Amino acid sequence: MLEIKIEKTTNPKPIPDKDNPLVFGTIFTDHMFEMDYTDGKGWHDPRIVPYHNLELEPSAMVFHYGQEMFEGLKAYKTEDGRILLFRPDKNIERANHSNRRLMIPEIPEDIFMEAIKQVVKIDEAWIPTKEGTSLYIRPFVIATDPFLGVRPSYTYKFMIILSPVGAYYPEGLDPVKIWIEDEYVRAVRGGIGEAKTGGNYVASMASQMKAHEEGYSQVLWLDGVERKYIEEVGAMNIFFKINGTVVTPMLNGSILSGVTRRTCIELCKSWGVPVEERKVSVDELEEAARTGALEEVWGSGTAAVISPVGHLRYEDDVFQIGDGGIGELSQKLYDTVTGIQLGKIEDKFGWTVE
Ligand code: COI
Repeated sequence: MLEIKIEKTTNPKPIPDKDNPLVFGTIFTDHMFEMDYTDGKGWHDPRIVPYHNLELEPSAMVFHYGQEMFEGLKAYKTEDGRILLFRPDKNIERANHSNRRLMIPEIPEDIFMEAIKQVVKIDEAWIPTKEGTSLYIRPFVIATDPFLGVRPSYTYKFMIILSPVGAYYPEGLDPVKIWIEDEYVRAVRGGIGEAKTGGNYVASMASQMKAHEEGYSQVLWLDGVERKYIEEVGAMNIFFKINGTVVTPMLNGSILSGVTRRTCIELCKSWGVPVEERKVSVDELEEAARTGALEEVWGSGTAAVISPVGHLRYEDDVFQIGDGGIGELSQKLYDTVTGIQLGKIEDKFGWTVE
């Protein structure tokens, strides 16, 4: 494996104190990881360096055609001072899955994992310990060729930056209001929906703003062909508890394969809760809401972990889910996932990596 060179900062920044609300994604640590790719040479020069600005030509391909991949995972500090990563192997696997779709060269898994471990270790003093906080890790790759023709770049930069974060949504675990989007779609089968890349997120922004204007936190995405089947919620996967069974849209090529999604499915199954990965139509959902069969709805993602949904709006109909509060299973999933992440609950699945 390539050796990671380390250059420590001579100008450390102040670490946020315990009372800082750590608004998601606003503060960055002292160091970052960087590695370059050149055609013929492969990935080379892995290094940890002080967090710094980039110098790129305005013609760099990432600015024009969006050839980029990103990931998100978190590090936690346990009460006895250990640092835990949660299922980093799954993020690395997914990163290379995205890379293949986006024609970005794959990153060797061993160097990827070592880079995450070493950069987090160097900035371990930045891992916040207050309840609901963690160190968000953002690996990403950009295409750097100075070229305006449309083709995959021959050169790339892979970076990992770190950000101490609190809750992703201002609501925290309080149930959010969701607008079912019937005009725009996030992704289509055969497109790039199952790759983690900026294009899918910019595609979501117009509806997100529309939902905000109407007093809703996020949108629920329908499929791009029939506009009938549910896909995701905001930047998260979506789960429904209908008559005691947990139902989540099956991965179909336009849905991101979330690490927290997988974790929810595996935990529910381990508790004996039936889980179905299948198509869920908005008609089925409306019917379940009307008859009282829709017991719980929650979004799952790395950033928010579990985000309960309190009510849904589709066209002119508004449905309250359960009593509008946090469902029992949503709460149990949140407590268990965060308990394992923080080393407070025994990790019998082997998900955490020290
Ligand atoms: C996540 O839930 O981890 C996400 O993908 C949200 C991220 C874009 C901030």
